[in-house]
Amino acid sequence: MKNQTIETIMNRRSIRHYLEKAIPDADLKWIVKCGIFAPSARNKQNWHFTVITERETIEKINQLSLEGMDRLGIQKEPGYHIFYHAPVVIVLSSAIEGFSELNCGCALENMAIAAKALGIDSCIIGQTRYMYHQANAIDINRMLKIPDGYQHDASICFGYFDGEYPDPKPRKEDVVDYIR
Ligand SMILES: Cc1cc2nc3c(=O)[nH]c(=O)nc-3n(C[C@H](O)[C@H](O)[C@H](O)COP(=O)(O)O)c2cc1C
Repeated sequence: MKNQTIETIMNRRSIRHYLEKAIPDADLKWIVKCGIFAPSARNKQNWHFTVITERETIEKINQLSLEGMDRLGIQKEPGYHIFYHAPVVIVLSSAIEGFSELNCGCALENMAIAAKALGIDSCIIGQTRYMYHQANAIDINRMLKIPDGYQHDASICFGYFDGEYPDPKPRKEDVVDYIR
């Protein structure tokens, strides 16, 4: 298929190893803008994005999430880093109301595709939810500038990768029915 958008969608992979190289501000702005331009139910745009490039905060979120996983008895490899040492993390939160998590999902995918189009890899990270099993929600939300009445949904990390891209994971093809 010779269509740039479709090729970008088909070539995106969740990447779990990143170089230390920073992402240019201009590219990061486009990624965020594409998130903001995602569709949302009744155009509520009831989401919030915390864009984090400060290493210290990324490490803090990683630490709290790992500790939350420990509390729940979730196994992980030694030295596991929930963001795979990516230089940029965006934490998504949304108003506690109908469809808001779905809206965040639309924003997440828009950002992942926009990044890929700019030569930047990503991985959506749900494991950031585990930090709420370790620390107080008020403290976490203050640290992450999550507005009152909003709840964290998921995160996405971004960076550059110079390894061999994994093959696409097999997809279940039998999940589609047509009514014609
Ligand atoms: C809501 C959501 C949460 C996810 N959480 C994680 C995560 O915490 N850690 C991780 O490594 N990948 C995570 N992923 C990535 C999936 O594992 C990945 O999308 C899936 O295996 C398909 O691979 P692909 O993205 O390369 O096509 C998440 C994906 C989604 C959509």
